[in-house]
Amino acid sequence: METQQARKVESVVQPTSVLEGAGVKLKRSFPTGHLNYLDPFLLLDHFGSPNAEDYVAGFPMHPHRGIETVTYVLKGEVLHRDSMGNEGTITVGDVQWMTSGRGILHEEMPQVRPGGMDGFQLWVNLPAKHKMTKPRYQDVRSNTIPQFTSNDGALIRVVAGQIGDVSGPVTEIAAEPLYVDVTVPPKSSFHQPIPRGHNSFAYVFEGSGKFGAENPGDAVKIDQPALVILSDGDYVNVFTENNPVRFLLVAGKPLNEPVARYGPFVMNTKAEIDQALEDLRRGTFVRED
Ligand code: CO
Repeated sequence: METQQARKVESVVQPTSVLEGAGVKLKRSFPTGHLNYLDPFLLLDHFGSPNAEDYVAGFPMHPHRGIETVTYVLKGEVLHRDSMGNEGTITVGDVQWMTSGRGILHEEMPQVRPGGMDGFQLWVNLPAKHKMTKPRYQDVRSNTIPQFTSNDGALIRVVAGQIGDVSGPVTEIAAEPLYVDVTVPPKSSFHQPIPRGHNSFAYVFEGSGKFGAENPGDAVKIDQPALVILSDGDYVNVFTENNPVRFLLVAGKPLNEPVARYGPFVMNTKAEIDQALEDLRRGTFVRED
């Protein structure tokens, strides 16, 4: 039997402050000058602020093609509308997993709330054979996301993938993703297998914890906010000392296909990007069939 190995900390990325949409202040882990993408993941933004002026401008109507956008709201409320006729709110604990396929136009507008706004957007790439599929989205309400406490005391919410025998509500995603929100209390640990060959990262957004080793003595201490890129291996270990830590743990199967990206479009070739722009100009971007 082969020896099972803990994934190590390959690198730690400090999120960069950027203005996106019509002027939303957010912390971007990638793409940055340091890291373009982590196959199959293309972007990770953390939008969070108690101040309305940092988020109220929102993301007015804009297109996407070739990707999936995953919005997870921790605090506040986001109003959304799209060219498929969907309209609604994403509120505390909800996830919207939107598959743009060949093209969608949508807007995402954070609402002013006394407690402010907090949440994430992750972009997941689609394989070439799915880039021009019909758009769809999975609107996942907080109360349908399984939440439980592990034997080690970690509080776990499973959005996609599987922890033990608990499966997340988001299904039929090409990247075979794991997307979980984990809180590990002080002086505890968390252990989770991840299939070998899948890329993985942890985005630490509360407290601090030690990542990437068999034993706490060899693990690397990470303070929020930070993106921890993990090496290949069989499982992830996280240990805490006197503080709790909360993080998103995300993993997926790499596509190993060429990436041509231009703003909200991610295709395989420059010609396909030009086609997306041409379709927008001609008004043929969104198709009803
Ligand atoms: Co969007």
